[in-house]
Amino acid sequence: MKKKITIIIGGGIAAYKSLELIRHLQSENFEVIPVLTKSASNFITSLSISAISKNKVYTDLFDLNDESEMGHIQLSRISELIIVAPATANLIAKFANGIADDLATTLILATDKKVLLAPSMNVRMWNHFATKENIKKLKNYGFQFVGPNSGEMACGEFGLGRMAEPLEIKNKVMNTFKISNLSNKKILVTSGATRERIDPVRYISNDSSGLQGTSIANALLRKGAKVTFITGPSNIEKPVGAKIINVETAREMYDAVFKNGPYNIAICAAAVSDWYVENKNSYKIKKKSSNPPQISLRENPDILSELSKSKNRPELVVGFAAETDELIKNAEKKLTKKGCDIIVANKIDKKSTVFGNAENKVSIISNKKTIHWPKISKVEIGNKLSDLIENLTN
Ligand code: C5P
Repeated sequence: MKKKITIIIGGGIAAYKSLELIRHLQSENFEVIPVLTKSASNFITSLSISAISKNKVYTDLFDLNDESEMGHIQLSRISELIIVAPATANLIAKFANGIADDLATTLILATDKKVLLAPSMNVRMWNHFATKENIKKLKNYGFQFVGPNSGEMACGEFGLGRMAEPLEIKNKVMNTFKISNLSNKKILVTSGATRERIDPVRYISNDSSGLQGTSIANALLRKGAKVTFITGPSNIEKPVGAKIINVETAREMYDAVFKNGPYNIAICAAAVSDWYVENKNSYKIKKKSSNPPQISLRENPDILSELSKSKNRPELVVGFAAETDELIKNAEKKLTKKGCDIIVANKIDKKSTVFGNAENKVSIISNKKTIHWPKISKVEIGNKLSDLIENLTN
């Protein structure tokens, strides 16, 4: 049976290009299910789309006939991929805000499948802060994008906003379907902060939210990896589909890591406490008028270091370094000392709010080279890092 792709055609001048896109997808042996928005029907007719796609064109959410044949929920799940081309500023705004007031927007809200958007709009609309915010939100939700390109537009202006060419969209689709070499690889992701108890109500910890580790795990899961997610206490929603192991202390994290291995790849994103409280109390320490209690610290085992030097060493080990000074120099030292293959380094200073923030600016350090990424969302860092790992492993 042919794989199905749903194409939502939005109301923009580029709608005519969707006919060519349908042809390209058919030549790759996909069955195309077209959905036409109301405004798109001003640019292109149902008749031409059904003639090309050789399928029924879905147009209205409240078509009772369709609901009895195929409800909108079923329609949102029937395909392997949903393409929105052209994705207008209006559609993008609705998707970003969870609006479901017609068939196209309802399908997007209801779907559990990948969504690929091909934006198309006037350059000022594309550059408007509202559109930028919406795009950022959608990228964080895991939507994929192709284009827009720069060039002359139907409105006579010039700049970014032209819809990607049908062939470019098809190539992106083919990439989406490529089976990743991370598929079925067993990958460890440690995440969040650990806690070291002083007594039953007090502990030593740090500000790590777990967002970065979670984003990495989600990106790897999208590539079909089998993720073991070992996390300290965190309020971030856990990556669905991963094997989740909740721990509190560094020691518990260490035990869980070595009990659940071996792994093909390991990503140690957790901000593990370097020390534990040797003289931990089993009762709440009382405040006395005399001297405050003395806390005696001992070093925790270094999970990253031991994993990198273990007998069953993963093929690729990635560590993180949060540094307040001499970021690159310290991160390079860490790479050698711990014996991992890559260090993802981010600077922590008084102005920086890396922990708990949705964005970060990191450098990727390996023995071969150092790459600096711009400030992007932690979700995008997760995506880029999983692409990088995919390229580095077999
Ligand atoms: O030495 P430092 O804590 O700065 O190193 C950070 C890196 O080492 C992170 O990848 C972290 O997950 C890992 N680490 C570890 N076990 C520890 C301390 C840090 O795996 N006990």
